[in-house]
Amino acid sequence: MDKIVVEGGVKLKGEIEISGAKNAALPILVSSLLADGESVYSNVPRLMDIESIKLLLSSLGARIETDDRTVRIDGSGLHNHEAPYDLVRKMRASILVLGPLMARLKKARVSLPGGCAIGARPINFHLKGLQRFGAAISLKHGYVEASTDGLKGAEIFFDIVTVTGTENMMMAAVLADGITTLRNAAQEPEVVALAEVLQKMGAKIEGAGTPVITVSGVESLNPTSVSIIPDRIETGTYMIAAALTNGEITLKNCRPNHLEAVINKLEETGTRIETKEDQIRVTGPSVIKSADLKTLPYPGFPTDLQAQFMVLMSVADGKSVISETIFENRFIHVSELERMGADITISGHSALIKGVPNLSGAPVMATDLRASASLILAGLVAQGTTEVNRVYHIDRGYEAIEQKFKSLGARINRITV
Ligand code: EPU
Repeated sequence: MDKIVVEGGVKLKGEIEISGAKNAALPILVSSLLADGESVYSNVPRLMDIESIKLLLSSLGARIETDDRTVRIDGSGLHNHEAPYDLVRKMRASILVLGPLMARLKKARVSLPGGCAIGARPINFHLKGLQRFGAAISLKHGYVEASTDGLKGAEIFFDIVTVTGTENMMMAAVLADGITTLRNAAQEPEVVALAEVLQKMGAKIEGAGTPVITVSGVESLNPTSVSIIPDRIETGTYMIAAALTNGEITLKNCRPNHLEAVINKLEETGTRIETKEDQIRVTGPSVIKSADLKTLPYPGFPTDLQAQFMVLMSVADGKSVISETIFENRFIHVSELERMGADITISGHSALIKGVPNLSGAPVMATDLRASASLILAGLVAQGTTEVNRVYHIDRGYEAIEQKFKSLGARINRITV
C-alpha cells in the first residue's frame, strides 16, 4: 500500500490549478441515467471515487468512455436495478443511484451503505423521501428494496440538511408526475451544480441554492454536456496549507464565491487573501492567530475542512475551540495529531486546541479522506519526517496531491510499498 512521506519546514510558494469537484461530479455523472443518449462531462477529476461511480453506472447498463478528464456516459442501456454491496460499501455516494433508478426503472435494489469512519451516516431521509413519492420500501438482507407504479410529486421536509439526500430527491422528482417541494434543502454549490445540469437536460427546477427547491416533473430528459465546477474543498485545503507554512500561493481555476466562510475564517487567523473571479492568492501569517470554529451546512464553514483547520489551530498562538455539528465522529485525526505533538482535548462534539510552537514528524494514518489530508498538512509544518499511511483515502478525493504540493516547493514523495 502506498504511503506519502513529507519533510516539513518549507514555505509553500507558487501556483496550482484546482481540479473539478468530486462531490459535484458524483451526482452529475449519476444524473446521466435520467436520459437516453450520450452526455459529455468535462473537467472531471481523476479520482478513485470517480472510478467507483463509473463502475457502478456501467454495472447498471450505462456505456462509459473516458478520455483524460472528459467522461461520456450513455444512459440508454440502463436495465439493471441493483447496486451491489461490493460497489456501495466502497463509496457511500453510491446511494445516489436510488432516485434515478426509481425514476427510470420504477424499482431499485441498493445495498445499505452501513457505517463509516466519520459516523453512522444513516440514509433514512433518502428512504422517507422516496416513500413520500409513493414508493414502497423494504429493507431485506442488507438491501433497500424499492418499487413504485410511478413516482408522484411530493412535499418533502428534511429534518436535517442532507446534501446527497437533497440531490437524490431532486433526481427522483424531475421525472415524477406533478410538483415536488423540498424544504430545508441543502444549499451547497454541488446541489446547485446538479440542479443546473438537470435544467440543461430539460428539468423544471426552481430555488436550488435556497432552502426550498420546487421541481415540476417532466415526461423525459435529454442528454447534455457540462463542465464540472472547481472543488471548493480542494481549494480550501491548499489555502490552509499556505496559511500554515507562511507561504504565498495562487490557486487558479477556483470559485472564491463558494468559499466565503473559509476566507472569512482564515482572515481571522491573520492570513491575507486576495480574490479575482476565478483565482485566490493566499499569504500565510508569520504568527497564526487562534480562531474558534463551528462546522455548519453551506454557507457555513464546511465539515470537509474541519480537520485541516484543526492542524492550523494546533500551531496557532493561543487556544481555540472547534465544534463539529455535522458528523458525530469526525475527530479521528485528533489522536494522530497528538502523536505529532498537538495539544487537543475532545469534549463531546468540541475540541479544545492549545497551540504549540512546533509539531514533530511521525508515522501516522487515518481512516477518512479529509483526515488523511490534514495529516499531510501537519507533515508540511512539522519538524522532521512524517509518513502518512493508507494513502488510498487521499486518492479517493484529491487529484495528484503530491505533485501539486511538490510544484509549490514541498518535500513530499509517494512511496509504493
Ligand atoms: N443524515 C441522516 N440521515 C440521512 C442523511 C443524512 O441522519 O438520511 C445525517 C448524516 O449522518 C450527517 C448529516 O445528516 O450527520 C449530514 O449528512 P449529509 O447527508 O449532508 O452528508 P452526505 O450527503 O452523505 C456529503 C458529502 C460529504 C460531506 C457532507 C456534508 C458527497 C458525496 N459527500 O455527504 O463529503 O462531508 O455532504 O457536507 O457529497 C467528503 O468529501 O470527504 C465527504 C465526506
